[in-house]
Amino acid sequence: MSEAVGELTPPNRTLMGPGPSDVNPRVLRAMSTPLVGHLDPAFIEIMNEVQQLLRDTFLTDNTWTIPVSGTGSASMEAAIGNLVEPGDTMLVPDNGYFGERMAAMARRAGGNVETVAAPWGEPLEPADVERACEQYDPDIFGFVHAETSTGVLQPDVPELTEIAHDHDALVIADTVTSFAGVEFRTDDWGVDAAYAGPQKCLSCPPGASPLTVNDRAMEKVLGREEPCRSWYLDLSLLEGYWGEDRSYHHTAPITNVYAIREALRLVQEEGLEERWDRHRHVAGALKTGLEAMGLTFNATGDVWLPSLNAVRVPDGVDDGAVINTLLESYDLEIASGLGDLAGEIFRIGCMGHSARPDNVIFLVGTLGSVLEREGAEVDPGAGVDATLEAL
Ligand SMILES: Cc1ncc(COP(=O)(O)O)c(C=O)c1O
Repeated sequence: MSEAVGELTPPNRTLMGPGPSDVNPRVLRAMSTPLVGHLDPAFIEIMNEVQQLLRDTFLTDNTWTIPVSGTGSASMEAAIGNLVEPGDTMLVPDNGYFGERMAAMARRAGGNVETVAAPWGEPLEPADVERACEQYDPDIFGFVHAETSTGVLQPDVPELTEIAHDHDALVIADTVTSFAGVEFRTDDWGVDAAYAGPQKCLSCPPGASPLTVNDRAMEKVLGREEPCRSWYLDLSLLEGYWGEDRSYHHTAPITNVYAIREALRLVQEEGLEERWDRHRHVAGALKTGLEAMGLTFNATGDVWLPSLNAVRVPDGVDDGAVINTLLESYDLEIASGLGDLAGEIFRIGCMGHSARPDNVIFLVGTLGSVLEREGAEVDPGAGVDATLEAL
């Protein structure tokens, strides 16, 4: 036998990285309420409520709106794995880490992948999407609304969906880092399927991940010649549980469904548009403060992503050392860059329950003083003053 394992005492961090974000205590309390069975009439009522709250947050009337069991990659694979049939062509962006994951999933589903090119740190240009649609005639076009690896918000979504639809392609949107924090309108913007993760702007622990699919896309899924390659994520089977029948498919992660219900209730209480405004306001103060201190943002203007701030690492500074000091000395989590931007940016989240004035004041002050100690030419005092003023 191994030695007795001690009580669970994780450190009390402030989560300002790319997710998870801090969880509202109400969500944690909901997770400690008693289990009921996944087919209990009381749970079926909870399922109905969660589905409606998800529709309200995606701004959609789609019947097919569910929390997929698993993390954001599960709702992502549910969208891609069901909509991409063997031999289909999926057009994906190549300007970030999660566009590459879309490509990997589409290939596993038996699809051919073509890319729309844009540099890491820049959005897709509608003219490039148009050219790629003409060249490749895709069945599916996927894009990342909020690219967590680069801090870039994809603007012009209605224009992109129109181009794809003109070429008879269905559109899948990755809204993992924008859902419930940054404006996204599924129906008004013509998006056929969108997926999200709960642990970002919704501030809910990972485990049940939002997905919405419109009738046109569901028609393709239900008309497939070959079944979806994943049994677990096959929407034609999941329809039995989340659709009219409410019959067993797999045991739902009940506690995670309680959690997402409470997190979505918090969105409803705050108001969706008010929540988008809070993210812009609080993250805007963070941006103002960091710029006043002497730092530069990687993405600015209409592609700045309030929920994920990509800040350039000052010359000569070791990003890993800064991130470790913040974690070890201040219990403050931020992250480094990925892929083409590894070593070049800090990724600073401002999501959900973490998007609070006290957090950004703390972050600007501590990041500034750690950078100064690392030899960067920054003015932490000017940063904090500007943050306070902007708030
Ligand atoms: C844009 C984007 N898509 C997909 C995912 C995958 O989500 P998860 O890590 O919850 O599986 C993430 C996670 O950070 C993400 O940021």
